[in-house]
Amino acid sequence: MTTTAPVNPTQQRTAEVVADIFGVINERLVRHSVTYPEYQAAKAWLIRIGEAGEWPLLLDVFFEHTIEKLASERREGSSGCIEGPYYVPGAPELSSPATLPQRPDEPGDVLVFTGTVGDLDGNPLAGSVVDIWQADAHGFYSQFHPDPPQWNLRANVTTDERGGFEITTVVPAPYEIPKEGPTGQMIRAAGWHHWRPAHLHMMVRAPGRRTLTSQLFFAGGKYVDEDIASAVKPELTLELGRLGDGRYSAEYDFRLDPA
Ligand code: BEZ
Ligand code: FE
Repeated sequence: MTTTAPVNPTQQRTAEVVADIFGVINERLVRHSVTYPEYQAAKAWLIRIGEAGEWPLLLDVFFEHTIEKLASERREGSSGCIEGPYYVPGAPELSSPATLPQRPDEPGDVLVFTGTVGDLDGNPLAGSVVDIWQADAHGFYSQFHPDPPQWNLRANVTTDERGGFEITTVVPAPYEIPKEGPTGQMIRAAGWHHWRPAHLHMMVRAPGRRTLTSQLFFAGGKYVDEDIASAVKPELTLELGRLGDGRYSAEYDFRLDPA
């Protein structure tokens, strides 16, 4: 690559990072003696990724975990996790205790998710908001699948005066990367599986605090040890309990860094 003297720090950073990444790709093309037919197939596949609108999916499955881990190194409070491509801002605003918007016959087992939002010392952050979203018991996200209604299993839940929350929802199913699109086709061509373990997503916000984007997983669940998106962290893996009335329960205390 030809280089000219950088004119500003942004240009310098762009040149350094991009030249390094492109250099690694070129080295690997040599290492694997990639042929012209393979190059043409990869080029056509990359074009199909764009045409199918799958860039967010592809990037969030295979690369977001690295960026998230780097960002988490600068965090003392609760661990973060990837956002993924299915967050939608503007979900209904509810107050704890809350039941997530759902269909009258919402499939799945009822889950009562409780916990607190606090600062690094555990002092409650009253008025904090848990912006939560999840797949349903079939693994479908509202607004990304035709079945669930617009805000199904999505809400901004304001905590109580002790920073506590109680959110009634359903146990999500594992999520399967769509098989029919170019991302799914590549995964199949490589002989990998298409699955993420069941998880809850959340963005936790409080005034004066750094927003936490995270996910919570369920111990012993399918694919917890082999997430296609490489995003599971042990400290984000919860035991699913059982309440006296048979409903499932899970508990987690969020600790937010200063802004
Ligand atoms: C998810 O969390 O659902 C997800 C993350 C990355 C890619 C696809 C889905
Ligand atoms: Fe997800």
